[in-house]
Amino acid sequence: TAAKNPPTSLKSESLEAFRMHPEGQRLTTDQGIPISETDNSLKAGVRGPTLLEDFHFREKMMRFDHERIPERVVHARGTGAHGYFQVYKSLEKYTQARFLTDPSLRTPVFVRFSTVGGSRGSADTVRDVRGFATKFYTPEGNFDLVGNNMPVFFIQDGIKFPDFVHSVKPEPHNEIPQASSAHDSLWDFVSLVPETAHMVMWLMSDRAIPRSLRMMEGFGVHTFRLVNAEGKATLVKFHWKPLLGMHALVWDEAQKLSGKDPDFHRRDLWEAIEAGNFPEFELGLQLIPEEDVLKYGFDLLDATKVLPEEQVPVQRVGKLTLDRNPDNFFAETEQVAFCVANVVPGIDFTNDPLMQARLFSYLDTQLTRLGGPNFAEIPINRPLAPVHNHQQDGFMRQAIPTSRANYHPNSLGGGCPFLANPKEAFNHLQERVDGRKIRARSESFNDHFSQATMFFKSLTQPEQEHLIAALEFEVSKVERAEIRERVVNQILVNIDMGIATRVARAVGVAPPKPVKPPKAGKKVKNTVESSPALSM
Ligand code: HEM
Repeated sequence: TAAKNPPTSLKSESLEAFRMHPEGQRLTTDQGIPISETDNSLKAGVRGPTLLEDFHFREKMMRFDHERIPERVVHARGTGAHGYFQVYKSLEKYTQARFLTDPSLRTPVFVRFSTVGGSRGSADTVRDVRGFATKFYTPEGNFDLVGNNMPVFFIQDGIKFPDFVHSVKPEPHNEIPQASSAHDSLWDFVSLVPETAHMVMWLMSDRAIPRSLRMMEGFGVHTFRLVNAEGKATLVKFHWKPLLGMHALVWDEAQKLSGKDPDFHRRDLWEAIEAGNFPEFELGLQLIPEEDVLKYGFDLLDATKVLPEEQVPVQRVGKLTLDRNPDNFFAETEQVAFCVANVVPGIDFTNDPLMQARLFSYLDTQLTRLGGPNFAEIPINRPLAPVHNHQQDGFMRQAIPTSRANYHPNSLGGGCPFLANPKEAFNHLQERVDGRKIRARSESFNDHFSQATMFFKSLTQPEQEHLIAALEFEVSKVERAEIRERVVNQILVNIDMGIATRVARAVGVAPPKPVKPPKAGKKVKNTVESSPALSM
């Protein structure tokens, strides 16, 4: 069992203070009162009514009645593991982040893999994106890399996330279908919102049915920034590369496994770690000078685009090893709270409008999901770095601040009077931003199809056949004829006429007429009105 694994990381050791070890212990109430009988309630006579005075019964039932908390609004089904990350050599040229500059440092991590659409009890092997979220407990605070196993996303601006997710999740009137991409509302949305085209191709590919969570890539998706000690920024795309290589199921296997073993991926990860076959992933970086943000024929702030590895190779800079299963699913895997806004000095954001929305959403949703503002104090979420501030109170406060002063500045003494040295603190990059307020999308985000075509062409012939078969299957399940027609005539024809013609035939739509090819690789104009960052 997991308890037999020796703690291999500082984080795991820090959790020991919170672990309960009930083996060989006597039963007590939550108040520590010894209990010798838990099979019968306290009654007035053996056949009499149960007495309100029975505090043991009341506590036991109250605790049971309140076991459930809301599942995540997306990525509800997941599984987690502890491990550590170590950088191969210092990246100080690019970043001041300690965990990326000190090769002797083993940074403890907690990783949670997930599916996106299904509920907490759904099956593992459904066709879906997989989440790949990593919390690094660094000496400078927690850094969360909240990524997926596909390098792009369905939408460009986070304001469309609620619309998109509503279309993916079961329909509101009958909650059908569970965890499936074969339904009217998803394809309705896809056919009306062409920016989804590229990601839909990934979703129809074998990437959406991984053989194992140990055998898939991970991506930060957005373009982030690394910032060095001199305040110089470099754009970066984060990748995870599995050392076991990438492998997929075939669709028929995936469907059968959904019925025969809905826990297939969860079990595979658990058993591999228990057997000492520790999953390993290398961290890869694509590093891009700030001034090249528009150099590649698309906008690096657009999360529906990949930066092809042929154009900017992925440099492998360190390794993640998962070596310990959690002791308790709820306490660790369910209560872990990732947030894109958790960055450490040396890592910063960009103006990607999808990322900007995420900076708000995670903190906001966790306020409800984890019952109030003190969720950073839940053991799995606590940083290893010390925490001192004047935040106070709120439901479920755990820490006990000991000083009288709870504000800054103060002359009473106590509190935390010192501000960090700016060289060691988080400094937001001093980027020049100069724009008119406008609710609009940059023209540089306009090309929705060339990369969808590029992705299809990059696949081997069997992979292309799998993708077309998936489209034929999923779109054929759409009941409304006009949605099937729009998928073919508004989306697929712009990606590849061969795909459009075959899918049309399979889903009962008239074969499409040839269209003018989209303008691929058009030079894009900077309409963003913000210039590359000033150095500090
Ligand atoms: C989970 C929002 C896009 C990866 C979540 C959750 C929310 C959310 C509310 C549930 C968090 C929780 O309850 O703890 C959003 C919004 C997005 C967006 C508003 C776009 C505007 C993305 C993208 C990625 C991603 C682009 C991948 C790069 C994840 C992952 C999780 C997650 C991996 C699960 C984290 C875990 O395991 O606990 N997202 N998301 N999301 N999201 Fe997003």
